Amino acid sequence: HSVAVIGAPFSKGQKKRGVEHGPTAIRNAGLLERLSKIGCSVYDVGDLKFAHVPNDALYNNVVKHPRTVGLACQVLADAVSRAIGAGHTCITLGGDHSLALGSITGHAQHCPDLCVIWVDAHADINTPLTSKSGSLHGQPVSFLLRELQDKMPIIPGFAWAKPCLSRSDIIYIGLRDLDPAEQFILKKYNISYYSMRHIDCMGIHKVMERTFDQLLGRRQRPIHLSFDIDAFDPTLAPSTGTPVLGGLTYREGVYITEEIHNTGMLSGMDLVEVNPLLGATSDEVKATANLAVDVIASCLGDTRDGAHMIIDDLP
Ligand code: ARG
Ligand code: MN
Ligand code: MN
Ligand code: MN
Repeated sequence: HSVAVIGAPFSKGQKKRGVEHGPTAIRNAGLLERLSKIGCSVYDVGDLKFAHVPNDALYNNVVKHPRTVGLACQVLADAVSRAIGAGHTCITLGGDHSLALGSITGHAQHCPDLCVIWVDAHADINTPLTSKSGSLHGQPVSFLLRELQDKMPIIPGFAWAKPCLSRSDIIYIGLRDLDPAEQFILKKYNISYYSMRHIDCMGIHKVMERTFDQLLGRRQRPIHLSFDIDAFDPTLAPSTGTPVLGGLTYREGVYITEEIHNTGMLSGMDLVEVNPLLGATSDEVKATANLAVDVIASCLGDTRDGAHMIIDDLP
């Protein structure tokens, strides 16, 4: 595999400082070495630079830093589009989850037929008009879905963003903290999701089977995985801005990514919301960053049964 790694040290889509250090934390946990070890040829794009737009007033008295977030997503979309165009599998290291608007839009420029697997405690599908927090990391999916566009206001910074997904092109896994308006949107538009409750009921194996049935059953198509580290239980990923009890186990998380690798269709991914300023101890921060590396490596073909170390014979 040829893999491009793009750092997106971006934090203005939410309120806590520190998530802009996510890319450094994930690199320092040994991401590039790990990918090389499993046979990827790694092209490191480095960290993107994002301008802070001056006089970036609230939209509608609620939504924060719209111009700054919009511009950052546009810059990222260009970088991802270039990496995908050059033939790489593109990995974006966040940064907060607002950047998925950029990475998915950029990915879709070369792969208009892509589908999205969104692994997260949250649905991040508030519109700028339903958001209670005003944080754009809780809203990227609303910008991406065609069906929602008549509910989207014109908001400064996002004129470039054209929706590239239909409701049946995305599936959520791991949900357990939805705002009322988000729940309404998922039901009204009949968007598929497997909440933690579904995982408890049917097991992660069946969840993945159904996911691929829906997304790839009719035809093979490129997959974009948008993985929010807060999908994991906070005992495993404490260094994140919006932790929610009752999340994925280590084994469920790695099973999801192994299965995605096994489809052979993974084309781009995000690993977001690692905030190294939020752990109670440095061990917690390290554990969260190591987990992020495990998730990415497993997406790129690392296995739990040593299949990558093939030898010819015993001495
Ligand atoms: N639903 C909440 C909001 O709209 C929380 C979103 C959390 N998103 C995230 N990417 N961690 O603000
Ligand atoms: Mn989340
Ligand atoms: Mn998220
Ligand atoms: Mn492989």
